Amino acid sequence: MPVGSAKSPGDMGMKKKNALIPERLFKRLALFEFPLRMLPNNPRTFFMLLKGGFSVFRSSPRAAMPISLSIESSGVCNLRCKMCSAPEMSRRKGVMKFSAFRQIFDEVRPLYLGLSAAGEPLLNRDLFDMISYAKAHGTVVNLVSNATRIDESTALALVESHLDVLKVSLDGATKETYEAIRIGACFEEVVRNVKGLIEMKRRLGASSPIISVNIVISRENVHEIRDIIAFCHSQFDCSVEFIPLFIHDKDAAEEALLVDLSTLGRHVAMGKKWAEEHGLWDTVANLDNLLYSVERMYRGTSEGPCFVPWLDMPITWDGNAYPCAHFMNVPLDFGNVLETSVAKVWNSPNYRKFRKSLADGKELYKQCLNCGMNDVGLYNLFSVFTRCFPPGRLISHRRYGDSQGQQQGWPGS
Ligand SMILES: C[S@@+](CC[C@H](N)C(=O)[O-])C[C@H]1O[C@@H](n2cnc3c(N)ncnc32)[C@H](O)[C@@H]1O
Ligand code: SF4
Repeated sequence: MPVGSAKSPGDMGMKKKNALIPERLFKRLALFEFPLRMLPNNPRTFFMLLKGGFSVFRSSPRAAMPISLSIESSGVCNLRCKMCSAPEMSRRKGVMKFSAFRQIFDEVRPLYLGLSAAGEPLLNRDLFDMISYAKAHGTVVNLVSNATRIDESTALALVESHLDVLKVSLDGATKETYEAIRIGACFEEVVRNVKGLIEMKRRLGASSPIISVNIVISRENVHEIRDIIAFCHSQFDCSVEFIPLFIHDKDAAEEALLVDLSTLGRHVAMGKKWAEEHGLWDTVANLDNLLYSVERMYRGTSEGPCFVPWLDMPITWDGNAYPCAHFMNVPLDFGNVLETSVAKVWNSPNYRKFRKSLADGKELYKQCLNCGMNDVGLYNLFSVFTRCFPPGRLISHRRYGDSQGQQQGWPGS
């Protein structure tokens, strides 16, 4: 049995091309296939998906309750990664208590729960209680971690809590590249930790957590795209997800990490060739999306804004809500869900104003223009639908196809 032979997103996702679906649409749909397959098959799931889908299609300023929560279980971190704004963030630092988590979770009972935002989730001792609690309520739970703190007992707790997906942030295929980016981490130790978790899963006969690797592509690691795919395939037998570098609020240090398009294109082509030769079609799709997103980001235009603020609410460890995780280091006041409630904050005046400005689509916030989510498959599907079926415009508040990527000020300002 190869290491990590429990199903990876690659196993569950796109291994083969499908002749019936146009290739471009198929690649876009692949983004959604895996998360949908993980949901429990019951009437509540069906109802919530329908409600969320309609809310997105309608895109009115007032939205149905979120089907997903992104909760910052920990706002503290043990590393200082070069591209990350978390260590310098001006807001308060701390970890969420289980009682606060439960108050938020019980009000929403989301289909999806992410427990990472700007810190390292494994630094919160209540994390495993949160995961177990959410899993007991049928929620799909994922975690993004730097994996520096996965010793044997943590590996056991991760498996026993029934966490669904663990995304390990590994920004290089070599010690030199990785440690130059992830300041404070040790490459060999992190690789050993991930292997230890894979071994724990094997010992317990567990199929979860499904492990995948996240890589933020920057000037410092772009040359290792192919090597990272090969490394993760041989060492962990797992999928790789390349993420475009996001620029937080005109930060010069982050801008210096941006990679030029022709260099990116060359290394993406090499990575794709290797992935195609090994049948890793989800990686091929991800690399196409990476290039597409980065091109759009650099051009500063978008066919239209995303659907995230109709589906997901990001919440900091101390209960402050944001319209999107990319705004979490901007001093905004959208309300505190622990002081009021998720329902109140979700349709507060600032939230409604934010959604309206996205749906109007004429002007986008800088954060949105920098984001790979501003033009993904679901948006395109709805856009195609309203073009083919014009009466759809009567119930949708969204204006498709006329965004020119103008920048505007902070929401709520
Ligand atoms: C903020 S971290 C929090 C979780 C954990 N501490 C970790 O490093 O995985 C979540 C993810 O965001 C990524 N990230 C950090 N800075 C980024 C940036 N400027 N652009 C895009 N992704 C970034 C990290 O690499 C990581 O995969
Ligand atoms: S990317 Fe993760 S590990 Fe690195 S500084 Fe940011 S929060 Fe910490």
